Amino acid sequence: MQEHPAQPHPQTASRSKPQVIIELNRDHVHIAKLMDILEAQLHKIEDIEKPDYVLMLDIMHYMTHYPDMFHHPKEDLVFAKMLERDTAQREAIDHLEQEHKLIYDKGLALREMLESASSEMAMIPRNTVAELGLGYVQLLRSHMSLEESQVFRAAAELLSDADSEEIEKRLESPGDPLFGATVAGVYEVLFKYIKDEAAGA
Ligand SMILES: [Fe+2]
Repeated sequence: MQEHPAQPHPQTASRSKPQVIIELNRDHVHIAKLMDILEAQLHKIEDIEKPDYVLMLDIMHYMTHYPDMFHHPKEDLVFAKMLERDTAQREAIDHLEQEHKLIYDKGLALREMLESASSEMAMIPRNTVAELGLGYVQLLRSHMSLEESQVFRAAAELLSDADSEEIEKRLESPGDPLFGATVAGVYEVLFKYIKDEAAGA
């Protein structure tokens, strides 16, 4: 059967973006900020300067505890709902779902490597850490770019407000522990760094 380009869902045409897509977009802004900070620290490793391992570890702690546990699973629910309505984005969605698994694995690997590298006794070559870290940053950026430029646009057309509510209910997120209403104690140092950087301190 021939596939047709995504058509606006009758109930969703000419209305605002579903809440779930607004929240996923907002998460991306935060993740992009963290990737910029991580990248700058990884370049320090390449330039034989001393990086801030605690900062990088805090970022990877967050990435493996919030985006991997709640942001990506929420996207998977959005993608599943999209495919119930229209298969035009199937190829991109298959690719993004595979990348969610890859991001999870690489995130854990990077966190473990940073934990080892931060030890004074570390025997891990600096380039190995920088390479794994910069690969992770690139992967996150290209992944979010495909979501933002293509798949979320289609999702905004295909999903209704009821779909959005159903997805939010199915994945009971405790809320963002770094950028949400309350900053978890474990992220206080990272939160202050981000705040100071934004203020130009
Ligand atoms: Fe995403």
